Amino acid sequence: MNLTREEEKMLGGKLGRGIQAAMELLVAIGDAYDAEKMIPVTRAHVASSGQEGDLYFVELLANGGAKCLVPTSTNPVYDIEFFHRLFEIPSDEAEVARRVMEAYKKVGAILSWSCVPYLTENIPLFGETVAFSESSATPYVNSVIGATTNREAAQSALAAGVVGKTPRYGLHMKENRRGTVLIKVEAALRSSFDYTLLGQCVGEQIGFGIPVLTGITKRPNTEDLINFCAMSNTSGAVSMFYIPGFTVEAQTVQEAFQGDVPDDSITVTDAELKRTWERMQTTSGKIDFVMLGCPHYTLKQLGEAAKLLEGRKIHDGVSFWICTSSTTKALAQRIGYVEMIEKAGGSVVVDTCIDEPCWTVYRDRTGMTDSPKCAYYRRFKDVVVAGLEDCVEAVIKGKYE
Ligand code: F3S
Repeated sequence: MNLTREEEKMLGGKLGRGIQAAMELLVAIGDAYDAEKMIPVTRAHVASSGQEGDLYFVELLANGGAKCLVPTSTNPVYDIEFFHRLFEIPSDEAEVARRVMEAYKKVGAILSWSCVPYLTENIPLFGETVAFSESSATPYVNSVIGATTNREAAQSALAAGVVGKTPRYGLHMKENRRGTVLIKVEAALRSSFDYTLLGQCVGEQIGFGIPVLTGITKRPNTEDLINFCAMSNTSGAVSMFYIPGFTVEAQTVQEAFQGDVPDDSITVTDAELKRTWERMQTTSGKIDFVMLGCPHYTLKQLGEAAKLLEGRKIHDGVSFWICTSSTTKALAQRIGYVEMIEKAGGSVVVDTCIDEPCWTVYRDRTGMTDSPKCAYYRRFKDVVVAGLEDCVEAVIKGKYE
């Protein structure tokens, strides 16, 4: 790569060991992708996890004196004291989480502890160059907002956040943002959960690529798009997609493929979505808990859950959890949604997600969720996946039939 004198100084350690380590990583990635140079980023999002995989790099940077140069938000971890009061958390796990959180604070990150920062705490604009990791965040930022990001790891996003730059390769270049697969959607898409299934189905079918979806006639809402992003980029590696007319970068199929529309296509019908749904179920009948908010629930979703639970009681012995961001919970509290959910016997928790060791108590239990990504992490034994209304009915009855 061609580095500027300032970048050479960073790489040589003149600005401290933390910046040097970040630069070493970025240059190695740039070399691997034949990038010619670095380009400035305006913000970053780190898919931190509060676990071992996270700890080494963030401490290396923090203890080496690095500080975030651009706004850099963070993914869920967990509130150690809150969960300690409820469940047993192994002390070594809790110590790792404590150190991770301290290191992100030291490095000057935005301690959002949320996987949907692009809605509230760290919002790119159209055309911004950013470094966003996390399954829903990467495709949302590229496709819905029209900023550019590669499918970053937690470490490469953090490195970009402290250096303020990223190598110019991949989705930062117009020619690489060309659609690769034509998806003809014949399924009806009646709910946000149908977008969840569509994302799961598309990711499974194409693996790696940039799908261009046709046949969608009704404008998808924010939650539809978040669900599609998270699931397609978990069951597959979908960093970007187009729904011409509804996503920002291409108004026509021709434009999305940069003039080269393929002859082949994949058709997704209601029957295909049903088969996708059936493949995810490992059980039915009695459930021990429901877990929603993967990705973190929006205010609208919290409101829907609250209204479905209003005046009802969650079944004895069954737990009901919704994960969200602290900013969203604060608003939901003000509006009264949190009280409605708690009155029914449910809990709204912030800063955490299913992929955290605070949930090990559910290891041998049966869970129900509206998120295939939550099911995929399988920190519990068996799983039922269904839409929000079915999850609420099941948690009232204590079983899914
Ligand atoms: Fe978010 Fe955790 Fe799910 S990061 S998407 S809640 S696995």
